[in-house]
Amino acid sequence: MKTITQQLTNIVSAAFEKCGYDPALGRVTVSDRPELCQFQCNGAFAAAKQYRKPPFVVAQEVADVLAADPAFAKAEVVKPGFLNLTLADDALVKLVVALAADENGGIPQAEKPETIVIDYGGPNVAKSLHVGHLRSAIIGESLKRLARAFGHKVIGDVHLGDWGLQIGLVIAELTVRHPDWRVWALDFDEAVDPVPELNPALLCEVYPFASQKSKTDEAFAEAAHTATAELQARRPGYIALWKEIMRVAVADLKANYAKLDVDFDCWYGESDADAYIPQLMKTLEEQGLSYESNGALVVDVAEETDKAPMPPIIVRKSDNSYIYGTTDLATIIQRQQDFDPDRMWYVVDKRQHLHLTQVFRCAKRAGLVRPECEIYHLGFGTMNGSDGKPYKTRDGGVMRLEDLIATVTNTSLERLAQSSFVEEADREDYARKLGMAAIKFGDLINHPTKDYIFDLDKFLSAEGKTGIYLLYSISRINSMLKKAGEQKREFNGVYSESERDLMLKLVESGDAFVGAFNELAPNYVCENAYQLAVAFSRFYHDNRILDEQDDAKRANWLALCELVRDQLCRHLHILGITPVENM
Ligand code: ARG
Repeated sequence: MKTITQQLTNIVSAAFEKCGYDPALGRVTVSDRPELCQFQCNGAFAAAKQYRKPPFVVAQEVADVLAADPAFAKAEVVKPGFLNLTLADDALVKLVVALAADENGGIPQAEKPETIVIDYGGPNVAKSLHVGHLRSAIIGESLKRLARAFGHKVIGDVHLGDWGLQIGLVIAELTVRHPDWRVWALDFDEAVDPVPELNPALLCEVYPFASQKSKTDEAFAEAAHTATAELQARRPGYIALWKEIMRVAVADLKANYAKLDVDFDCWYGESDADAYIPQLMKTLEEQGLSYESNGALVVDVAEETDKAPMPPIIVRKSDNSYIYGTTDLATIIQRQQDFDPDRMWYVVDKRQHLHLTQVFRCAKRAGLVRPECEIYHLGFGTMNGSDGKPYKTRDGGVMRLEDLIATVTNTSLERLAQSSFVEEADREDYARKLGMAAIKFGDLINHPTKDYIFDLDKFLSAEGKTGIYLLYSISRINSMLKKAGEQKREFNGVYSESERDLMLKLVESGDAFVGAFNELAPNYVCENAYQLAVAFSRFYHDNRILDEQDDAKRANWLALCELVRDQLCRHLHILGITPVENM
């Protein structure tokens, strides 16, 4: 179904046209001043310029047409030319009924569903996930669900960093520690030779150790670089060990993403792009785009309108090795061949903007994607600690994501221990869900490009704009509906002021989803969910729902409660948050 502002825009545009004006002037928005009206149209100001009339006169002509429309209780003109609109209660109830019947919860379905690849997560194999990976996971997952809710075909790809120096460092260190392993032999044969079994604890320890060592031990650093190059050249023993590293690391990553309720359709990595590098190099050369510069192979990507310097992208280093830019470009070829997408979104830290801009421009210049394909970097801001600096552990180190999840879950477990609602056996599961709701909402309530402060106490509070407040609202409705049992639920009118406000918030939710999708900003969904919960809370306090003696009223209110609950669950689902039944 169309959103409320789309529906009203159609009506008001027709009124403009009827009065002899351009229908495009009839754009309706949700009112900035809810105390005055529900919706507004400011088209009379543009009309005034176009038709050389006072805006007030144009607005009045249109208002006169609208006054005859049963959709509106009021269509008023406020000087100098605002058109203020308030729906008739009958019309409002009809909209609510339509929303309740719409399986898509008021989210307008795409007329031409598009194929969208979202590159998010971006963890590096052999290094542990840290808090820097949290935002990409949370925002990317939400955008994936949001786009799917509009009917688009969305492919989430984790894009593992699995082919670079981090693997070379691990190989070099294991060579020192276990010189007797068969994998180091140049004649290693996967069919007959044994591969040592690794585990996540070992990987977590080896990588930081090796990385540190490479900073002071030049010979070791050299060995790690050589190992990386030989891995990429597919030395059999290294490939076998790499597969074992991948087996262990990917299982560990999957477990951690599962704790976050984040899942990917593709578990491709930089290594999968390797096969497309020859094609990339050939294309760049054939088109005369790549040239040598100081021994490296580069492609110019600067444009005339650039205000800041835009260096050429390096596609091959002087030592003949391929780098980050190369694998990103080769991955684009792979995605084009596999999915022929209409859009590719990269949910990556905004500090990588220069790199991704170079990649995208090169991809477009080389025609690696269709010219109309949108390639977009959603660069997110940093999650900071209370000191306003990137979030760290107490001793100033990088916080592992696993530790952060454990802290959040334990804190919410402690709080749940004081709650009499949750059975002992459910507490672990509740604690995880509450913890996730807290950190995801705490993140997504901010515009993705902004930095924010991670404040667990605030995020876990049951009051204010928090995920917990929303879960609490849902649980309150659940227990009321349970008490109501099989009693009739049916929309039939508007009986109170707070009820009208609540219905209005419900019918506005479609616009919030559209805003979030158009701007890739899930914070609109958070904001609308919060407003819906607040409006519900007022309604709940103003009316004694279960004690109401008038059957029609009670049926109306129960239907309303149910719709609010379902709609809030839809919001949360899109945010990647799983509600709990009762708390
Ligand atoms: N692995 C990279 C990192 O940790 C992030 C990858 C982002 N995605 C991409 N296509 N470059 O910095």
